[in-house]
Amino acid sequence: MSSVVNTARPARLGILISGRGSNMVALADSVEDGRIPNAEIAVVVSDQANAAGLVKARKRGIETLVIERRGRRPEEHDREIVEALWARNIDLICLAGYMRILSRGFIDAYRGCILNIHPSLLPSFPGLDAQKQALEHGVKLTGCTVHFVDETLDGGPIISQRVVPVHEEDTAETLSARILIEEHKLYAEAVDKVLRTSKKSFSA
Ligand code: GRF
Repeated sequence: MSSVVNTARPARLGILISGRGSNMVALADSVEDGRIPNAEIAVVVSDQANAAGLVKARKRGIETLVIERRGRRPEEHDREIVEALWARNIDLICLAGYMRILSRGFIDAYRGCILNIHPSLLPSFPGLDAQKQALEHGVKLTGCTVHFVDETLDGGPIISQRVVPVHEEDTAETLSARILIEEHKLYAEAVDKVLRTSKKSFSA
């Protein structure tokens, strides 16, 4: 795994969301209780003004930004987000239910420093409705994956995974709920792993 952050201070995390924000909350809790040491959640950015996660972030005292697409080309929208992240010296970006594909410019600006969580054992079932795809294929085991983001759809280098059993009686909802419990633990572990693997110390 490559070094992703080069700071001699607590790593500054930026989390991108579009909705509920339960993974964002799990990351914030993990920073707070020391499961992700030497880090802070510096900003939560949403492309949706009504994302429920925004309220949860504000309640925790985290700065929030709403940066909507407003009919712009993806590159223009992403540029505004990247500039907001640069302005806050963000080291590592965590996509957490962010429902947009990042443009090349965004990925280049933060290459190797963007993580995503996906509710399947990649490379199986990339894209939307991963839990439904797993049920339709009849797999007996599925799970969740945290990976680096590159130009491929859910195809960047895998950091960590957790396995979740599929039950006979599962619906997309029951399976999603079982996976989500593991997502919350996995994301914190993966962020910690990435920060620890980074060559420089964050505590100096
Ligand atoms: C999660 O299942 C995540 O894996 C996927 O989108 C969902 C986001 O949920 N990328 P939440 O907004 O973190 O609650």
